[in-house]
Amino acid sequence: PADQLDELVSVERGEIDRRIFSDQEIFDMEMKHIFGRAWLFLCHETQIPKRGDFFEAPMGSDNVLVVRQKDGSIRAFLNTCSHRGNAVCRAEEGNVRNFMCTYHGWTFGLDGELIGVPGKSIFYKDKLDLSKHPLRKVAQLDSYRGFVFATFDETAPPLEEYLGPTGRLGLDLLAERGDIEAVPGVQKFVVKTNWKFTVDNVFDYYHPQITHMSAFAVGLIPAPADDFVEGGAMTETGANLEVPFLPTDLHNVVMVGEYGHAISGPDQDSLEVTAGGREPFAWRYKPETQEKLGHHGSRVAGHPHIFPTTWVNAGGQLSLRVPRSPGVTEIWWFSFRDKNASPEEKAATLSAQIHFFGPAGLLEQEDGENWAQSTLQTRGTVSREVPQLLKMGLGTSEIVKDDGLAIIDAPINEHAQLWTYHAWREWLRNPTWEELRQRTMPGDRL
Ligand code: FES
Ligand code: FE
Repeated sequence: PADQLDELVSVERGEIDRRIFSDQEIFDMEMKHIFGRAWLFLCHETQIPKRGDFFEAPMGSDNVLVVRQKDGSIRAFLNTCSHRGNAVCRAEEGNVRNFMCTYHGWTFGLDGELIGVPGKSIFYKDKLDLSKHPLRKVAQLDSYRGFVFATFDETAPPLEEYLGPTGRLGLDLLAERGDIEAVPGVQKFVVKTNWKFTVDNVFDYYHPQITHMSAFAVGLIPAPADDFVEGGAMTETGANLEVPFLPTDLHNVVMVGEYGHAISGPDQDSLEVTAGGREPFAWRYKPETQEKLGHHGSRVAGHPHIFPTTWVNAGGQLSLRVPRSPGVTEIWWFSFRDKNASPEEKAATLSAQIHFFGPAGLLEQEDGENWAQSTLQTRGTVSREVPQLLKMGLGTSEIVKDDGLAIIDAPINEHAQLWTYHAWREWLRNPTWEELRQRTMPGDRL
């Protein structure tokens, strides 16, 4: 596949080769060239506030322990014993004085250094140099506004540069919700899907009206138009439904950034002109916060995505989509709340978060079934040959550039998905960081 990358993703035609959702060789390339190099979200600093606090986080096919050090700094190292590979920690999070491997008892300090080996003098005759066998550390670790990231690549640009304006804005939208802290516990579950289906869905405003019909029906999300739920348009025209869940005069705003980050959502500036003044999403930031977020932040109210797999839900959550094999993805949900909110507000926020996404979330269970079926039905020998389509808005919508934003004259399109696949293809070429930056710079297309 390495020499067929141009055929795998054709941005011009809006077509994707379905092999990318099931091919093991492509998956291995992704692990190496994307997850082996990118800055990946690990956890929020409030999850490990005290010395010895740890949190196990995935980095591609590897697992690392993120640990608060004695001096207050944070380090991360692989959760695999340098002796014979056993996990040195079996818990997902907690607090420790050190990590003792349960196989033969090698013991590692909070900094990952090897500090104890049973039988060091009797069995090893004091010839084992402990300083040579620490737990393998990540190459770089940093945090942005409390969100901790790491990369296995020493040559990766600094985190803030990697995030760029698009990735930073995604995290700002969460950080500006108050003095935030992570809600204890991360919701985790498994979907039998290729991870990329979960990623392109972040920008998919086309599916809610069909996929989430039951969520509309029970009032979990506000009904898009009266006749939508009443049955008129939906039941009579069926598949030719012309009533979208977003008002037709609403514009879509897309902000894309280097390395593949993207935000897509309803253009808040076009809400005023929308018939009936309907607000498609319940939340909006307070005026003073909008000022802090700047023009972009107050205009883009959609779903930010930090490449490769961090989805910020500006409703106060962050989701990791963890690829475990071509057909299996773990979904992790981190929820955030304002430390200073009242107990009632905290409970209401959490209840809303749990009921939308995660294992008990109506929306995500509906999404998950589609992703699993899309994975299953695109991997057949013949089914693989049918092109995957992302053509909506391609060459048909007017795109106006405004200060780094692309304003598109329709509420729904597939530009942000295409941007993400374009970036995905460029990562797989394994270019230098500078080449990658150049090739994923917002340009003529977006
Ligand atoms: Fe960890 Fe042997 S594998 S001590
Ligand atoms: Fe959905």
